[in-house]
Amino acid sequence: MSDEWQECMDHCVEVAKEAGKMIREALQKDISIMEKSSPVDLVTETDRKVEQLIISSIKEKYPTHSVIGEESVAAGASSVLTDDPTWIIDPIDGTTNFVHRFPFVCVSIGFTVKKEVEFGIVYSCVEDKMYTARKGKGAFCNGVPIKVSGQEDIKQSLVLTEMMFNKNPERFKTMLANVKSILTIPVHGIRSPGSAAINMCLVACGSADAYYHMGIYCWDMAGGAAIIREAGGVIVDISGGPFDLMSRRLIVASTKAIADRIAKEITQFDVGRDDAKVQ
Ligand code: IPD
Repeated sequence: MSDEWQECMDHCVEVAKEAGKMIREALQKDISIMEKSSPVDLVTETDRKVEQLIISSIKEKYPTHSVIGEESVAAGASSVLTDDPTWIIDPIDGTTNFVHRFPFVCVSIGFTVKKEVEFGIVYSCVEDKMYTARKGKGAFCNGVPIKVSGQEDIKQSLVLTEMMFNKNPERFKTMLANVKSILTIPVHGIRSPGSAAINMCLVACGSADAYYHMGIYCWDMAGGAAIIREAGGVIVDISGGPFDLMSRRLIVASTKAIADRIAKEITQFDVGRDDAKVQ
């Protein structure tokens, strides 16, 4: 069985390269922008075309596998994770970056078996960095092993999170208050690169020490989850408890000490679940 998943992973890397080429070409042309759930939730024709490319390639080769894709779910498809081999796809993670040509844009794909992440790839296609990881086999960037910083002291750390408008005033206030709490520890700084998957890879390769977020989706987290674990980092729920891929929240850190400290500072708010429709 293990070779079968390796073959899937090799296919995943090839299709991500093709998708990345499509994104780079699209960056050279006019980009037409559409809104999804809010004026700050954007989608483009390229998101949809890239997702179609990836899904058709997977369906042709692995017709029995399941797929959860960001744009398919936006169009009404299910986002319930089952025990089936499942490809969880974000065709462009960092769509807002893409529309502004801010260069942190990636293709993120995680592959689960019995609801556990078996492998993940994140292709930061403008930087041409292919992050890959398979359970028990280590994490790599362009084939070179990567590992987390190992930083234990929150006061010596660089923390990533994302800030955006939230139409719920209480949540918006809490999100900003959380940023203030983390800055006040104090940490060396907070950065917002604009792509959840790239944020996870930045922690995985030691360029940052932590990343926290409430309100992202399984397709933002699945690829990076494999990479951070295999790079020796930790991934937990925003409460500090076990990570749940469908929970829409996470803390990623170089060490448990840093993850625990962030969990202690954060005030949670309800963001729902990816699989809420079945609850
Ligand atoms: C978004 C990015 C961004 C995060 C948003 C995500 P998308 O993904 O990961 O960093 O702040 O919450 O939705 O929409 O570009 O795939």
